[in-house]
Amino acid sequence: MTPEFLRPRPHVAGLHAYTPGLQPTEQGWVKLNTNECPYPPSPAVAEALRREIGADGAALRLYPQPTSARLREVVARAHGLQPGQVCIGNGSDDLLNLLVRVFCSPAAAAGLTVPSYSLYPVLVAIQDGAPEPIPFERDLRLPVGRILASRAPVFFLTSPNAPTGVGFSREEIEAVLRGYQGVLVVDEAYAPFAREDAVGLLARYPNLVVIRTLSKAHALAGIRVGYALADPRVIDLLDRVRDSYNVSRLSQAAAIAALEDPGYYAGIIARIRGTRDRFSADLRDRRGWFTYPSQANFIFTEPRGADGATGLEVARSAYDFLCGRKVLVRHFPSHALTASFLRISVGTDGEMSTLSDTLNAWQSSLRA
Ligand SMILES: Cc1ncc(COP(=O)(O)O)c(C=O)c1O
Repeated sequence: MTPEFLRPRPHVAGLHAYTPGLQPTEQGWVKLNTNECPYPPSPAVAEALRREIGADGAALRLYPQPTSARLREVVARAHGLQPGQVCIGNGSDDLLNLLVRVFCSPAAAAGLTVPSYSLYPVLVAIQDGAPEPIPFERDLRLPVGRILASRAPVFFLTSPNAPTGVGFSREEIEAVLRGYQGVLVVDEAYAPFAREDAVGLLARYPNLVVIRTLSKAHALAGIRVGYALADPRVIDLLDRVRDSYNVSRLSQAAAIAALEDPGYYAGIIARIRGTRDRFSADLRDRRGWFTYPSQANFIFTEPRGADGATGLEVARSAYDFLCGRKVLVRHFPSHALTASFLRISVGTDGEMSTLSDTLNAWQSSLRA
């Protein structure tokens, strides 16, 4: 029974929170479920954190720089932009939330493709806004015509897409930008692993917002830093609704150190792409498992049972078998285009080889 003193706004009473991937606390898991980086961040990050804390932590008495000004400069330099084109968030989720706060209301929909990052509709629901979903077909081609027909003031597009790993070309994104009347948000959480990105389009399209995170390629999911790149007039709107101290001192210091060490990250990104491509070949060898070509640090594959069958139950059987052997991947059972697939984050070569052996054991268990 809900006590009488609890009177949330009606739309809040009906909300369902976002379901994050499992974060097991005990040791021994091969954790391939939330697309974290399998390698540590640049050694410069730990050094910067120690420097920021100092001998006695005295600096932590003080609030952080409210606009993350230095970090904005470092991000701008990394992308050949001006600091006024950058806003820093407490993870990119923070920026997605700010965008929804700026543009969405019960009367103003947010367009999104389905399946994509499942946080977008949750953020829209929190704002009592209306999501306008545009479904992909099984070929996962970008439905450009349907996006152009949308009247939503903001449209969220994930590229490379999650959970499928399929990337959209700059030409396809430009085709949307040329005709779409609202703000197009291209969430590039996984772009460092892709062949191309949309940053170069910012110079020509003031209605483009590119979102990046340091949680994936930069191995800093625990630090919570993301950023938006956009026209200064869009950045100004985000700053109006942003919490004034949204990024901690430690997070700002860690992010600056990471972005100032691009050579280190080029190395681990190349390793992850190499492992991804080898593991994709391993999956192709498994009697015709269908796998979308991945431009991300995860792979979306459709397991086949002993009789060649695919489907939700087959995917669930593989997921449960892996989980029982402490190999954690992700299964999204609630959408027709995802239910028969597993999303597998790219780990170290050793972790992928454990996964591969465990999938072999699952296949043998089906034949027994
Ligand atoms: C497409 C996409 N966007 C954003 C995020 C969130 O990133 P952050 O850790 O920066 O909030 C994720 C995390 O999984 C993601 O998959």
